[in-house]
Order: sequence, then structure tokens, then C-alpha cells
Amino acid sequence: MSYVIREYTPADETSWLRCRVLSFLGTAYFDDVHKAKPDVVAPGFELVAVGEDGLVVGIMDVTAQGELATIDTVAVHPDHQRKGIGRALLSEARTRVRALPVVTLDAWTRDDPDTLWWYRAMGFAESAHYLHVYADRYADESEPDRAIGERRPGLRPVAVFLHGDLRDEQAMRQQFTRVHVCRRFCMAP
Ligand SMILES: CC(C)(COP(=O)(O)OP(=O)(O)OC[C@H]1O[C@@H](n2cnc3c(N)ncnc32)[C@H](O)[C@@H]1OP(=O)(O)O)[C@@H](O)C(=O)NCCC(=O)NCCS
Repeated sequence: MSYVIREYTPADETSWLRCRVLSFLGTAYFDDVHKAKPDVVAPGFELVAVGEDGLVVGIMDVTAQGELATIDTVAVHPDHQRKGIGRALLSEARTRVRALPVVTLDAWTRDDPDTLWWYRAMGFAESAHYLHVYADRYADESEPDRAIGERRPGLRPVAVFLHGDLRDEQAMRQQFTRVHVCRRFCMAP
């Protein structure tokens, strides 16, 4: 399949959202769903890879402020992964970032082995780590109470999302069903 990489336009929104949700479905971000495309403010930018049928098969949103640019979203439609689209989106993003005063391009991601392979293969170096902890009553009735100390009268916690220290990983995994290690990947653009 041939594709072009170009700027996102508002007419791409539905296709962009579908590409993102399908791409994330098999990952630790499976429940991170947007109903509308988040805005990216200049000098950040929004790139899409679009197939011959006009549908979005890859997305790359980058925000930029001063010396730091961050990949907010990178995703390739599951039917088109491992065909170089992610690499091509990153290459175009790096070209654009080099025109800015940016010295570091980074991204934060969880613990999906395939995604980690991609970041490493693209030349990113892994650095900061912390925990994403989900305390979910439907996984284990006592998880929310274990996560938050005092309850507000009249309210019963059902699902709580928390950040934690990597040093507590083992203890967190013993107490909560869903724990991710979130990590930063960095490179010079
Ligand atoms: C991660 C992702 C963006 C990569 O895009 P892609 O178009 O599938 O990857 P590419 O074809 O550009 O891969 C380039 C190179 O990365 C490496 N790579 C990519 N996926 C890999 C995998 N699963 N295992 C090992 N190496 C891998 C390979 O070296 C590959 O080159 P090769 O195919 O010639 O061997 C894409 O797989 C994706 O959308 N994943 C799910 C969503 C996601 O996790 N997004 C990031 C959330 S922060």
C-alpha cells in the first residue's frame, strides 16, 4: 500500500480517531479513547499518513515548547504496522523539530514490548520511570479502598488512577491488578 505523509486537516478527524483507537486497542492504552481530536498548538504539529483511499493509517502529534518537543501521540493502524509508516512519521517529525530551538525530542509510553522495540530501534534512549496504577473495584472490590485512605461520606470509589514510585513496583503489583511502568524515551532531534 502506498501512503503520503502530510499535515492533519479537520476533515481527517473521524479517520484519525478510528486509527488511534484501533492502534491502541492491543496495547496498555486500550482504554485511552478520545471522542474528538486534541488540539496541538504551534510550534507543535500534527502529521498523518494517509493511504490511497484517503483514510488515515498513521498519526503523529508533537507538542513543542522551548528546548523540548514531545510526541503526544504516535500510532499506526494495526493493519499497516511494521511497514515503515511509524519510521516515516518520525523522520518527518524530526525534520520539523530541527527547524525549532529544540534540543530534546521525548515521548512517554507504558510497557508494551512491541512499542518498546520500536522506540529503541528508532534510536531513543530510555530514562525516567514511574508507575501507573489502576485501582478498580471490578478487578477486586477492595482495590479502591487500598488506594485512597479516607472516603468522603456518601461516595464510594469505583475506579482510581494513580501515579506511583517505581521503587514500590513489587508492592503495587501485589496489591493491584493493573500496574504499568511508564517510561520516558529521549533523543536529540
Ligand atoms: C509503535 C508503532 C507506532 C510503530 O509503527 P510501525 O509503523 O508499526 O513501525 P515501523 O514499521 O516504522 O518499524 C520500524 C522498525 O522498528 C522496529 N520494530 C517495530 N515494531 C517492532 C516489533 N514489534 N518488534 C521488534 N521490532 C520492531 C523494527 O526494527 C522495524 O524495522 P523493520 O520492520 O524493518 O525490522 C506502531 O506499531 C503502533 O502504532 N503501535 C501501537 C500504538 C502504540 O503503542 N503507540 C505508542 C503509544 S505511546
